[in-house]
Amino acid sequence: MSRTPFIAGNWKMNKTMAEAAEFADAFKKQEIHSKAKMAFCVPFTDLAVVKKAFEGTEVGVGAQNVHFEDSGAFTGEVSLPMLKEIGLDYCIIGHSERRQYFHETDESCNKKLKKLLNESSIIPILCVGENLDEREAGKEEEVVSSEIKADFEGIPEELAEKVVIAYEPIWAIGTGKTAGPEQAEKMCGFIRRTFASLYSQEAADKLIIQYGGSMKPENAEALLAEPDIDGGLIGGASLIPEKFAAILNAAK
Ligand code: PGA
Repeated sequence: MSRTPFIAGNWKMNKTMAEAAEFADAFKKQEIHSKAKMAFCVPFTDLAVVKKAFEGTEVGVGAQNVHFEDSGAFTGEVSLPMLKEIGLDYCIIGHSERRQYFHETDESCNKKLKKLLNESSIIPILCVGENLDEREAGKEEEVVSSEIKADFEGIPEELAEKVVIAYEPIWAIGTGKTAGPEQAEKMCGFIRRTFASLYSQEAADKLIIQYGGSMKPENAEALLAEPDIDGGLIGGASLIPEKFAAILNAAK
């Protein structure tokens, strides 16, 4: 089964509009010799700027969150109709920082996935992963399978197979500690088997699974060479055009 690699940047809460435009100019000058799909998931305020800057290129644009209601009294939130008008390609759902600091739950991830899948062509990038205590207690598979089961609850196969899953061990995010290729492969393979048990082997074979957590030019090639790792969700290294380009070029 051949799957096209997919490398996405997650800018988190970084870059003003001016900085985003500057980044886009610099990134367009990079030499990319990779067939991988690529995208940047940027702050809400940067979406229109980045979308315009990459118009007519292969670069996809995504948000980092969406609310599951269309409109209403939800101060500080952004809805799907608002995102659709910008013409986005992707939206991150359930990043561990949102789960940890903003009370994102599997229940809200499930509602957001359903909203995106039922009412738009925006592809969700669903993040799952265990924290350090859970890893040390040997509970990483239990944690990740319970997240996947709850997040996909009630979602039929024909919609579920559109989702990209990012395996992001929380202990490796922004810490410089990367899961080794074998460790990451083990979990991505486990995620594929979990997905197969919920849906079908056929759907699992098509599923794009990214690894995320301190992926950088120095370790990208080894991680991306693993059979169940189809791409990366890149935080820190996606803020620097040369580094993100080097990761893309490591995807065969
Ligand atoms: P990092 O972040 O690459 O800076 O570790 C990855 C992520 O949180 O998506």
